Amino acid sequence: MEKFVIHGGNKLNGEINISGAKNAALAIIPAALFAREECRVENVPDISDVSTMIKILKYLGAEVTMPEKGVLLINSKNIEPRPIPDEMTRKLRASYYLLGVLLSEFKSACVALPGGCYFGLRPIDQHIKGFEALGATVNTEKAVVCAQAQELYGSSIYLDVVSVGATMNVMLAAVKAKGLTVIENAAREPHIVDLANFLNSMGADVRGAGTEVIKIRGVENMHGCTYSIIPDQIEAGTYMVAAAATGGDVTINNVIPKHLESITNKIEDCGVTVIEGDESVRIISEGRRCKACRVKTSPHPGFPTDMQPQFATLLCTCNGTSTVVEDVWDNRFKYIDQLRRMGANIIVNGDTALITGVETLNGAPVEADDLRAGAAMVIAGLMADGETTVGNIKLIDRGYENLIEKLTGVGADIARVKFEEE
Ligand code: EPZ
Repeated sequence: MEKFVIHGGNKLNGEINISGAKNAALAIIPAALFAREECRVENVPDISDVSTMIKILKYLGAEVTMPEKGVLLINSKNIEPRPIPDEMTRKLRASYYLLGVLLSEFKSACVALPGGCYFGLRPIDQHIKGFEALGATVNTEKAVVCAQAQELYGSSIYLDVVSVGATMNVMLAAVKAKGLTVIENAAREPHIVDLANFLNSMGADVRGAGTEVIKIRGVENMHGCTYSIIPDQIEAGTYMVAAAATGGDVTINNVIPKHLESITNKIEDCGVTVIEGDESVRIISEGRRCKACRVKTSPHPGFPTDMQPQFATLLCTCNGTSTVVEDVWDNRFKYIDQLRRMGANIIVNGDTALITGVETLNGAPVEADDLRAGAAMVIAGLMADGETTVGNIKLIDRGYENLIEKLTGVGADIARVKFEEE
């Protein structure tokens, strides 16, 4: 088994290049099946969730090749609708996008309820509400969701919850439905806009993505295209926080600063300087202790829930007491037990964590509870005095391309080390 071994205390200095957005890629790759001919998708991150999604597409009969790093050629002329083995779909949450794509393309889809990070209930009732509004019949048996329809017809759908997955899945199910679909109370994340732009590059008619009302006029046919995925907002935010947490000076390249505004704002609230370039942000921290602040997660353009563990870790050594409110997921503070092992002083009460800054964290053996909690453990190790080992790093590999190379490139003392199975 492998772990990360980190010796903390180094200030990060230098430049990091950001990869393509995981949560855009995981919707765009299955959406390429609509073309029924070759799509060239660029800036695809080399992460295990993408590898799993590619395996699923190949299982369905798509040809998927990688002519060069970060580029996928996806040709779906020979795909066939067949139930996807549970062991494939349970590995990642985004497998549910196959429901929207296969329902739209073949009017029939069966997908095992998705896996992915566990932080409380992760229902898909809003996805099902959307499919049914379009005319599908949806049944769930033995944790497998099946959706069937004679025909799909455009409809108006009000999402009871602002849901990234439901917004994207209904968009996918509606692109070839007969007539106009209106999604209200839609999520507005950058990856939703990216999916809409990709679909439109294939000939779809999706308008309003990025606002809370998205209109999709169904089209008969779609075609191949060449498309480049946006930079990963959360990967960039993770390294921004790592730079601030170690008192460093790091320029993060290949970003869209507008996508990072809420993260930039919070890092500045902590007294850290952020200089925005056209496609970069530079984080200049005058020292290790930041100012305490209050942060509450919310759907875009609010502070991203996927940045909550990383930012809470930064706050562990701030001057004063900070408040972190998790308002998207109902149980996303599990990682705090790991931070306490390193000397963090945190009280959790329901959706709120109260963090009283300590002088420094102390290195310790910790585990990644999920993808972003794992990234938070890496940041904690970089901040701490002494040695930290992070276990369960396969969860981190799901969403961070070349994390070791990117961090050692700015002076971190971190390595991936093989250990005998305990
Ligand atoms: C996506 O998950 C991301 N995953 C998550 O990122 C991210 O945390 C989340 O969006 C919020 O931004 C992918 O894109 C693969 P939601 P998703 O539907 O779509 C409730 C990461 O680290 N809800 O926006 O599953 C739900 O319980 C991962 O990259 C319903 O009630 O999230 C939650 O409270 C972790 N019914 C809230 O909505 C539904 O049908 C937001 O969930 C769907 C969701």
